[in-house]
Amino acid sequence: MASIVVVGAQWGDEGKGKVIDFLTNEADIVVRYQGGNNAGHTVIVDGQKIVLHLIPSGILHPNKICIIGHGVVFNPKAFFEELESLKEKNIEIDDNLYISEDTHLIMPYHLTLEEKVEKIHKIGTTNRGVGPAYTDKIGRCGIKIIDLFDEEIFDEKVQIIMALKGNEFDITSIKNEYLGYAKLLKKYVRNTTSLLNEAIKNGKNILFEGAQGTLLDIDYGTYPYVTSSNATAGGACTGGGIGPSKIDRVIGVMKAYTTRVGEGPFPTELHNEIGEVIRRKGCEYGATTGRPRRCGWFDAIGVKYAVRVNGIDSLAICKLDVLNEVEKIKICVGYEYKGERINEFPRSLKVLRECSPIYEELPGWQQEICDIRSYDDLPIQIKDYLARITELTETKIGLISLGHQREQTILLEPFFVGR
Ligand code: GDP
Ligand code: IMO
Ligand code: MG
Repeated sequence: MASIVVVGAQWGDEGKGKVIDFLTNEADIVVRYQGGNNAGHTVIVDGQKIVLHLIPSGILHPNKICIIGHGVVFNPKAFFEELESLKEKNIEIDDNLYISEDTHLIMPYHLTLEEKVEKIHKIGTTNRGVGPAYTDKIGRCGIKIIDLFDEEIFDEKVQIIMALKGNEFDITSIKNEYLGYAKLLKKYVRNTTSLLNEAIKNGKNILFEGAQGTLLDIDYGTYPYVTSSNATAGGACTGGGIGPSKIDRVIGVMKAYTTRVGEGPFPTELHNEIGEVIRRKGCEYGATTGRPRRCGWFDAIGVKYAVRVNGIDSLAICKLDVLNEVEKIKICVGYEYKGERINEFPRSLKVLRECSPIYEELPGWQQEICDIRSYDDLPIQIKDYLARITELTETKIGLISLGHQREQTILLEPFFVGR
């Protein structure tokens, strides 16, 4: 029995959905602990593509419990739409999905506010109201799911927030819309903190599903070009409902290269033909917004930083197959700024914007790898690439993904074991 946290080690879209789906085989409970429907976690089952936004990726496995923890910001309309689309794909959701009663709500005015802010201060958000919902939570004027079940409290909160936001929204229609959701949500809402801690006591395997990635984390990311929550492993405690002593292992998911969506610095970004090849072969288009993802070489300094701030025990590396045709592969092993070498991930926005990556070059494998099922059968060039990543990040690789299908996965160590 163990509790493991899966986090993104780059700027999101590393392949967390695929890895979570694979690891759910051994899990009893899968928990989303932060973010909202800004996430897009893709899982391919029997050739069918399913993108999860708010509901944990474990939902595709029958008989597993899925929890939306209180660290998530929750848009009821988006939730019911996602439920509907899963039902259309014959995915059973009955008594296997719970939402924490302490989860904060995304309200219609959060989406309006985000649109306004983006016009002045462009972050390139997903426009799902996530940032403004967290702003209200931290500003102590957020509305929680539990408030929907007490009309007096709900009314009190709505009045306060409308007074704060200048009475520019139609309170009555928002109130009616959300009271309508309350009736439909009731059966999902629980005290999930006590449920989870009981499960841990009873020896269950728990999988915490991070959204976004380390470099998008509100504290550790490339601020202000970040999301508004703690996407890093500590978020699993504050947003999932467990204490740090209950976490047995942290897995960092990374791509064999790097991508980023939205604005913000990206030292290893490629503006050439190789960047195009990666985008095309890797289908690098946002799972939530459809925007083309910016593509670049693997940044070992960025991932080493992610290892440190998350306490990552093992890396799960995805999308090696995307590099099949690349002749020479580069790894960023440091940066140069004003004639000086930097060996740490820069915290200054100016340095991040202006530094140039220092690369090391490795030969590509230039062959098809999607049918390989064991580490031993991997081409020597991949083994060397993986060994160099381990050396540079000081972290072992525990899982290798060679395609988007479930079976295109090589597990190198058991994850669900206690410390
Ligand atoms: P997430 O947000 O971290 O869950 O990642 P996304 O779902 O946004 O993007 C990852 C994309 O890569 C999805 O389309 C996955 O199906 C796909 N994917 C995951 N692992 C692999 C892999 O090893 N090879 C290939 N070719 N695609 C992969
Ligand atoms: P998953 O879980 C990649 C990015 C947005 C924008 C910034 C802030 O699929 O990896 P937000 O809407 O969160 O306020 O936008 O964060 N972003 C993501 N990028 N993957 C994600 O999620 C992301 N969620 C948000 O593009 O740059
Ligand atoms: Mg994604």
